[in-house]
Amino acid sequence: MAQPDTLLTLDGVVKTFGRHRAVDGVSLAVRRGEFLTLLGPSGCGKTTILRMVAGFEHPDSGTIAIDGKPIQGIPPYRRPIGLVFQNLALFPHLTVGENIAFGLRVRRQPAETIARSVDEALALVELSGYGERRVHELSGGQRQRVALARALVIRPAVMLLDEPLGALDLKLRRQLQLELKQIQQRTGTTFIFVTHDQEEAITMSDRIAVMNGGRVEQLDTADRVYNRPTTEFVATFVGDTNLLTGRVSSVAGPTATVSVPVLGRDVPAPAGDARAGTGVRLSIRPENVRFADSASPWRMDARVLEVVYAGAAHRYTVEAGEARLLVAAPASPGTAPLAVGQRVALTWAADDAVLLAPPAGSPGR
Ligand SMILES: Nc1ncnc2c1ncn2[C@@H]1O[C@H](COP(=O)(O)OP(=O)(O)OP(=O)(O)O)[C@@H](O)[C@H]1O
Ligand SMILES: [Mg+2]
Repeated sequence: MAQPDTLLTLDGVVKTFGRHRAVDGVSLAVRRGEFLTLLGPSGCGKTTILRMVAGFEHPDSGTIAIDGKPIQGIPPYRRPIGLVFQNLALFPHLTVGENIAFGLRVRRQPAETIARSVDEALALVELSGYGERRVHELSGGQRQRVALARALVIRPAVMLLDEPLGALDLKLRRQLQLELKQIQQRTGTTFIFVTHDQEEAITMSDRIAVMNGGRVEQLDTADRVYNRPTTEFVATFVGDTNLLTGRVSSVAGPTATVSVPVLGRDVPAPAGDARAGTGVRLSIRPENVRFADSASPWRMDARVLEVVYAGAAHRYTVEAGEARLLVAAPASPGTAPLAVGQRVALTWAADDAVLLAPPAGSPGR
């Protein structure tokens, strides 16, 4: 399974605490130089995976390998891994420079090498000149940058970052997201980044592993995770969506016609490998539901129930048949938004809908 560009592999990794399977058979191939994010709700096993890669926990079964070699039995401090955790504190009694030098001292590097590496690391995180400062003289964002520099200075093969920006306010968080991504690209280091913030995952990642209940539900590019979710969990966890239950009534080439009882009508969706007669769930993003015009191949009547202005877009709740749908439309300057009660016609492109398998146990499967 390992491709030549694969750096780190997890193969069937299981970790149980008591009777609880925190990690329930995870297989992943992390590519050299990629920014991979583990995204999922609290308790889904993200930190436990990082702790096993770092060597603080050991899998009950399954293998973790770097460059094809299993790392079981290698103690944490010998693994080629850099760590930045939200609560992994800097040493308060050391200066910034001494904090960053720590890993190199442990590895008994010569003094000149240490001095040069510390300067380079400070420059990398844009803190040149801060080497003599004490930790308590830094802002929260500066501390996280020092933590990053301290982890990067040993030139790890893999950086593990567990919600490193979680404690920062939104503005600083956005700024550091950009910086982190730039540093990752400049150094070419492989990053495994953990967050439960889907927006953060989408803006930063080359690929996202969406986790749920100790398993990876989908591992894909940010674009595909958002636009082509494969499960209902992924469709709802990553962004807002409209979920409709229906049955495939016919398939013609790439397009399926799905009968949706709450809408009281048939709607189009990409066929994929769907077959006529099967029960499906249909996911359609608010921004993909459009107001129909005369050129639209199909349309359905709806009525505006609610309007919310959200920066660059208006978000409408509309009623279509017995369904309530979310619709997001760009707010164009000088144009009034639709009014509550107004009648509208909606449509979507078949390609913008996604057919999902219904969750196990639901009727129609
Ligand atoms: N040392 C431990 N002993 C017992 N249970 C644990 C231990 N560490 C983790 N767990 C449990 O394993 C599950 C996964 O925990 P983990 O910390 O990996 O979740 P997470 O995805 O990082 O969540 P969060 O987003 O809240 O940080 C949770 O149910 C947690 O309570
Ligand atoms: Mg965690």
